[in-house]
Amino acid sequence: MKEKLSKIMEDAMAQIDASGQLEKLNEIRVAFLGKKGELTSVLKSMKDVAPEERPKVGQMVNDARSAIEEKLEQKKALFEKKLLEEKIKSETIDVTLPGRRMGIGHRHPNTITLEEVENIFVGMGYNVVEGPEVEYDYYNFEALNIPENHPAKDEQDTFYITKDILLRTQTSSVQVHEMEKGKLPIRMIAPGRVFRSDEVDATHSPTFHQIEGLVIDQGITFADLKGTLQEFAIRLFGEGTKVKFRPHHFQFTEPSAEMDVSCFKCGGKGCRFCKGSGWVEILGCGMVHPHVLEMSGIDPEKYTGFAFGVGLERIALFKYEIDDMRLLYENDTRFLKQF
Ligand code: DAH
Repeated sequence: MKEKLSKIMEDAMAQIDASGQLEKLNEIRVAFLGKKGELTSVLKSMKDVAPEERPKVGQMVNDARSAIEEKLEQKKALFEKKLLEEKIKSETIDVTLPGRRMGIGHRHPNTITLEEVENIFVGMGYNVVEGPEVEYDYYNFEALNIPENHPAKDEQDTFYITKDILLRTQTSSVQVHEMEKGKLPIRMIAPGRVFRSDEVDATHSPTFHQIEGLVIDQGITFADLKGTLQEFAIRLFGEGTKVKFRPHHFQFTEPSAEMDVSCFKCGGKGCRFCKGSGWVEILGCGMVHPHVLEMSGIDPEKYTGFAFGVGLERIALFKYEIDDMRLLYENDTRFLKQF
């Protein structure tokens, strides 16, 4: 019996020594100390031992159990220490490593262009004002001389919210708000987002930006309009830029015109950019229609004025020689960083 016990002990110790992982220790514990374990089976065979010998053998079995348990605990502590060390090692932070660079953004060509336009007009004494993007039909159409059922309404495919409320199709609506305030003279530009139910392509988008201009005072003439917009074109596109006014039609101005600027890319000789013509259309303008003044409470006998509307994206595309409008809406920093 004694030999059997010391054989079991030896086996257990050797197996514990050889174990390579924490899980293995549990298997050893079950194999030796479990209900069907080797040590337990010795206890079961106690009945074969002479009664006077039993206490002694019992003591030996208990000693063996304690020794194995102790050895198991020691080994377990060793494994746990090693695991902890590995964890600490993997989680240490090297404070001497250089930091990761954060990607930074870049100003959008629209923003850069808008600031340039604003600076030019603020320098001429204009105020920069804003109006609502969600607008009454009255401000977007009716008060601009575009009555219900007028075909001009169809030209600007409109997102309607209700019968009377819509997403503005033009910043011209801001003119009406300014005139209604009744404070004259007016010298304002109104930049902002407009909406039209257009399909997306290289030159169209359901949302884009316009800059509206309005001047109302006594004695304003078409010569003021021409001089102002020519100066604007030269400051924006550079010395030597030529302008040309072509007769046009807008409901809210009379007379109306479109202004072209000489292509700064080819200097007017004709290139891919200006489609060979040497000119690029840049804005719509005209003398404010007397009926429009009247509807907003301004006496057309006393006051006259001019107005203009520019597409912001149109200018940005032209100025920065970008040939697809969609690039302006993707906000890819690799694109934006070029400006
Ligand atoms: N609102 C016009 C458009 O969206 C642009 C425009 C033309 C505005 C002539 C004006 C103007 O103020 O006088 O096409």
